[in-house]
Amino acid sequence: MTALARKAQVVDTPSESAATSAFAADVVAGLTATPKRLPPKYFYDSVGSELFERITGLSEYYLTRCELEILNAHAREIADLVPSGAALIEFGSGSSTKTRVLLSTAKSLAAYVPVDISAEFLRRQAGSLRQEYPTVAMLPVAADFSKPFSLPESVERLPRAGFFPGSTIGNFEPHEAAAFLRHAARILGRGATFIVGVDLVKDPQVLQKAYNDSEGVTARFNLNLLARINRELGAKFHLDAFEHHAFFNRERSRIEMHLASLKRQRVKVCGECIDFRAGETIHTENSYKYSLESFGALARGAGWTTAAVWTDADKYFSVHALRLQDGPADGRAEKA
Ligand SMILES: C[S@@+](CC[C@H](N)C(=O)[O-])C[C@H]1O[C@@H](n2cnc3c(N)ncnc32)[C@H](O)[C@@H]1O
Repeated sequence: MTALARKAQVVDTPSESAATSAFAADVVAGLTATPKRLPPKYFYDSVGSELFERITGLSEYYLTRCELEILNAHAREIADLVPSGAALIEFGSGSSTKTRVLLSTAKSLAAYVPVDISAEFLRRQAGSLRQEYPTVAMLPVAADFSKPFSLPESVERLPRAGFFPGSTIGNFEPHEAAAFLRHAARILGRGATFIVGVDLVKDPQVLQKAYNDSEGVTARFNLNLLARINRELGAKFHLDAFEHHAFFNRERSRIEMHLASLKRQRVKVCGECIDFRAGETIHTENSYKYSLESFGALARGAGWTTAAVWTDADKYFSVHALRLQDGPADGRAEKA
């Protein structure tokens, strides 16, 4: 085991109490806004991360199956884009299931830095990865990837490659996705490769089913947001008074997830009385669907060049290998 591999800590930013206050502030701001909304990053406490894992195994949820098909088919080509001795930085790593394809193929990786907001789930995944890949330094970072965060010191001087699978990029508004790609450019640096998984526009019925599974796991995942607000902020949402809604908004090319109030009700949250009309919804997530061209244009606008694009046999999902030729689009190098 290398010295780098032994240096394995979860960097927790911010502290738990600061994170709880930020959660409370975002929840109150979102529930007092019109229309009501909550940021999707709050789906992911330990319960939410476990539920997401179950979603990835559902027959209707083609996204994981198709992306794994692409990664397995092109593992060698993708691994060849990662420089020898590099640190692989993954944004929103979850269970790192897809990363295992790269960890097993890119043999000369020095370090893997999974970055995720779900700190406890991340800690457990890093433990398993350390046993499976003892020669790669596992350096998990618990952080919000959309904000500035510090990378472990030991990877500062290593070449870096980025990985952002799961079409998590689709959860951003397109202008936020472009801002995120510029932010990632600053973290990864000049010459970096960034492997990004992007879900594609397709038959709305296929999309509809993927977010309305017959076992109701996606509904539980969505409702866990209210359960989490109850657990962590002492609110008293009755989960059976809300219903999961997911539909394709063709005009905006996105799946929208909402929680609909089944009746007129008032819920006290952090000292605020939140009133719901019957049928009123809380907008909890968007999942934008791109074409190969529209995502390529978005990446180009953020300073990335497309080196390669792969799709699965049904053209449901795509994996883009982006290259940063000239350094970050705004010319600044972020100290990671
Ligand atoms: C759609 S899941 C994808 C998980 C995994 N990468 C995959 O492809 O199956 C999104 C992941 O990103 C994490 N996540 C979501 N928003 C985040 C944020 N703002 N900062 C850090 N992690 C975030 C979640 O905890 C979750 O693990």
